[in-house]
Amino acid sequence: MTNFLTHESGKHNIRIFERDLSSSQGYSDLNSGKHKLPLTHASSRPPTDGAKYLDSSVCKQSVGDDLTYRFSARFYDLFGSKDDLEFYKELALQSGDNALELGVGTARVAIPLAREGVRVVGIDNSEYMLKVAREKLVKESESVRDLVNLERGDMKKFELGQTFDLIYIPASTFDHCVTDLDRKQCLGCIHKHLKGGGSLAFDIEQATLERPKASWWVDRKEIKEDMMVVRTIFMRRDFDKRICSLDLFFDSYYSGKLVERYHEYGEVAILFKDEVEDLLEQSGFKVEAVYGDFDKSEPQKDSPRAVFLTSKR
Ligand SMILES: C[S@@+](CC[C@H](N)C(=O)[O-])C[C@H]1O[C@@H](n2cnc3c(N)ncnc32)[C@H](O)[C@@H]1O
Repeated sequence: MTNFLTHESGKHNIRIFERDLSSSQGYSDLNSGKHKLPLTHASSRPPTDGAKYLDSSVCKQSVGDDLTYRFSARFYDLFGSKDDLEFYKELALQSGDNALELGVGTARVAIPLAREGVRVVGIDNSEYMLKVAREKLVKESESVRDLVNLERGDMKKFELGQTFDLIYIPASTFDHCVTDLDRKQCLGCIHKHLKGGGSLAFDIEQATLERPKASWWVDRKEIKEDMMVVRTIFMRRDFDKRICSLDLFFDSYYSGKLVERYHEYGEVAILFKDEVEDLLEQSGFKVEAVYGDFDKSEPQKDSPRAVFLTSKR
């Protein structure tokens, strides 16, 4: 089954090609036909471990580990356009004085919230993502800078010594809690850090057994004339282990020549909406609403994600 998605939008000219790999066809197809991309490496099957498949004669290459975002942090905002900002802005403004973001990353959401006057603490376990966030923050006005506090921390084990009106976890970051224990610990910490009646909001990628076991997609961003980054993602879903593994490649081209290739590997949980609802109830939260997307639509079987809005019981 082939599924090509093409998006052309915004100033960056995004193109996405996605293909279901369940039929065991590889990404050599990328280099054929009208979707030809200047990839120098083609294989008849997807890589099982990225490093093995890199051609060291081509360009500078770096192999990352465990989705630390060591290499991808600087590309995150380039590829990370999401449609959740208005949702979190509205929620934060309704919720009260302060908010905590878990897995704050590049402060993609935290900075816009602070621009609206919300005081935000953001924690993340990736020093690389926090570095990008801090670089962005220094460019903000003093009043925005004063409202954002970024800290290195683990969302499964944190103690901040303060409580919040809102805790939010955007961009399917809760999926980074890969075991049941991880998720329980994370929710336990959240419960402790929420004010009475405070809200917890987050989204997960909605899993269904109908989703392909393996797929890949490619996006390309023009950074400026003669400069382009191509991101290729290979995803494999192991429904027995409930783990989704990801190989991410970032290829930088200057004047059409591949000059850098970065690889990172990571694993995230496959979560089902109903089990997350049960877990929330068991962990001391009242599920106020579950949406199928950030437009607050009803969740459907084929909704891209599940968005949870809960309050502390
Ligand atoms: C998909 S990104 C989301 C970044 C940001 N929240 C956004 O919406 O753009 C996931 C983030 O979660 C962070 N992360 C993953 N596991 C974490 C953990 N156990 N504790 C804290 N942060 C974590 C990653 O470093 C990364 O910055």
